[in-house]
Amino acid sequence: MKTDDTMQRNRRRILQSAAASLVLCALPPAARAADARKGLRIGVIGSGRVGGTVGALWVKAGHEVMFSSLDIEHDRKLAASIGSGTRAGTPKEAAAFGEVLFFAVPYAALPGLGRDLAAEIKGKIVLDASNPIPARDGDMAKDALAKGTGVASPQFLPGARIVRAYNEVGYARMRDEAHRAGERLAIPLAGDDAQAVKTAVRLVRDAGHEPVVVGGLARAREFDYGTPVFGKPMTATELRKALGLNP
Ligand SMILES: NC(=O)c1ccc[n+]([C@@H]2O[C@H](COP(=O)([O-])OP(=O)(O)OC[C@H]3O[C@@H](n4cnc5c(N)ncnc54)[C@H](OP(=O)(O)O)[C@@H]3O)[C@@H](O)[C@H]2O)c1
Repeated sequence: MKTDDTMQRNRRRILQSAAASLVLCALPPAARAADARKGLRIGVIGSGRVGGTVGALWVKAGHEVMFSSLDIEHDRKLAASIGSGTRAGTPKEAAAFGEVLFFAVPYAALPGLGRDLAAEIKGKIVLDASNPIPARDGDMAKDALAKGTGVASPQFLPGARIVRAYNEVGYARMRDEAHRAGERLAIPLAGDDAQAVKTAVRLVRDAGHEPVVVGGLARAREFDYGTPVFGKPMTATELRKALGLNP
């Protein structure tokens, strides 16, 4: 009896999802494009220099952002200074709010956040800008650099669809050179999940920078802290050349 119920429920779900796909396909191309362009809800975990800067650029591009840190008063002030489309919350609230999450915290905070936010981050797209810096984060940073952050971050944030992003250039460049004329400031990306990488590409463009997809997560180590390209602002052409990628 139970098996019949389950089968019926599964059949209903399949029919519903097929119907939803048909409705989407029936939309005129312009409406479908508009649907793909609609603003995303983004939860920022760590609203300091990097989180605050990139979050503000996303609000300008039409996304809704919730800022979070260890200091809710700071986040409220930040949200108020940016204006509509912006709010503040705890890290748990921001992680629940965002369909996409942006982590920009000291690397040593990642293991604890991964534990505290385990339920909220599962299955979500996470752009991770956090860098392991031994002088600040201790031995765990040395381990992470030895493995590469593309291997280490998923161990701390299990179940998240991680893309390494926004870790390689300084926040002041991200802010001051967003949407600049000519070739834009390049932002290297690495991720294993194709949909997550696609979303990261869109968000980097929306912020006014040029995404350069380096490869899967294992290749994030090529632009980790301490590598020759780290901290060197480049155009996409220059970055591709420096990393030996196809032009
Ligand atoms: N600065 C740069 O130009 C740059 C560029 C690329 C990547 N990065 C990397 O990005 C990360 C952030 O750098 P940043 O310069 O933006 O640092 P920051 O200005 O010090 O900001 C760090 C943020 O993380 C928050 N935070 C710390 N521990 C937390 C926790 N357990 N839970 C929630 N939030 C927590 C801090 O909150 P409180 O202020 O309340 O403590 C603060 O909002 C670092 O890993 C850094 O290496 C930095």
